[in-house]
Amino acid sequence: MIAPHGGTLVNRLVEGDERTSLLEKAASLPAVTLNSREASDLEMIAVGAMSPLQGFMNEADYQGVVNNMHLASGVAWPLPVVLSPKAGEEVAVGAEVALKGEDGAIYGVMTIDSVYQPNKREELEKCFKGDEEHPAWGYLSSIGDTYIGGTIIVANLPQHEKHNEYRLTPAQTRAAFAEKGWNTIVAFQTRNPIHRAHEYLTKVALEQTDGLLVHPLVGDTKSDDIPSDVRMKCYHVLLNKYYPLDRTMLAVYPQAMRYGGPREAILHALCRQNYGCTHIIIGRDHAGVGSYYGTFDAQQIFSQFADGEILINTLLFEHAFYCKLTGGMASTKSSPASNEDKIFLSGTKVREMLTKGERPPVEFTRPEVADILIEAYAQTAKA
Ligand code: ADX
Ligand code: MG
Repeated sequence: MIAPHGGTLVNRLVEGDERTSLLEKAASLPAVTLNSREASDLEMIAVGAMSPLQGFMNEADYQGVVNNMHLASGVAWPLPVVLSPKAGEEVAVGAEVALKGEDGAIYGVMTIDSVYQPNKREELEKCFKGDEEHPAWGYLSSIGDTYIGGTIIVANLPQHEKHNEYRLTPAQTRAAFAEKGWNTIVAFQTRNPIHRAHEYLTKVALEQTDGLLVHPLVGDTKSDDIPSDVRMKCYHVLLNKYYPLDRTMLAVYPQAMRYGGPREAILHALCRQNYGCTHIIIGRDHAGVGSYYGTFDAQQIFSQFADGEILINTLLFEHAFYCKLTGGMASTKSSPASNEDKIFLSGTKVREMLTKGERPPVEFTRPEVADILIEAYAQTAKA
């Protein structure tokens, strides 16, 4: 089984008596409130999905990550995972604070080892190549100007209404892979319904590996991305009809989307390594938004790391399309077709069709998936 990033699978969850006394202690501590992104990061840290992180980043780790994509320990890490106290919350180095959700639920305790003022403009430019229109700025400008770092101990994970049976921890996916006898497992990260191009990437990957983990991101996404419950319905119908179920597994990935393109591709890869995957699919404009990143930046960035720094392998794909000349899915690597023979549909065009109740062509999306999307668009229009 592939090693977790940094060597050891982190587990910051306590149980039994330890959990009871942690909750008692938390009740007497001043609290810091986590927004939904911070809560999903806490969940990922606690279950080891972000190994080797044991808490929110202190200033040394934050600076190392922003400036050269490494933690202070020298381990590769591409994006900040930080906690910003809310207005009026008291924080000091050396203090312990209770961590709670916006709904008041107590998650656990953090020992603060760093209180610092990030340079958010620098974070925006270095991590996201962003400007004020980039979603990262929307987030950065919505939170406070102070970050606090320190290790966490968690008694309660954030509770969710949705997808609970698909919320497998890295220990659970690793156990499932072992039980299935899979040695090579390819992860597919997505924040979209699976269209024909996505399907093609996963099928080509399945030809080379023992199993496929379809691992949709279900943390916060932009308001115009398709909600995770609609996407989950699409994944179900698609997998049940068009995938070999003995070689395919569906689980959800709790991370909040950063739209960080290349740097986020590294994050997606390292976290999937923690889940036990040996490979990850990286296609065109992975984790991209607007036109902030070059089409293949998220593939090229992996070569900036030395051998052995990132154990998970990448399966890289060119822009895939339905090719009328060869009568199947292809890319320019496998088909000589001219542009007139390639069916590319923009996201905007597809949204337009769905809103009008029109099915996009079967060359773009499976009819069963299109019907779920049409229904979902009709519901939103009514609401
Ligand atoms: S995201 O997390 O990268 O934003 P998205 O759902 O858009 O998710 O894409 C999932 C994966 O499929 C990414 O690796 C992306 O690069 C790849 N991908 C999406 N569409 C295509 C395409 N037409 N050709 C090649 N790769 C694609
Ligand atoms: Mg995309």
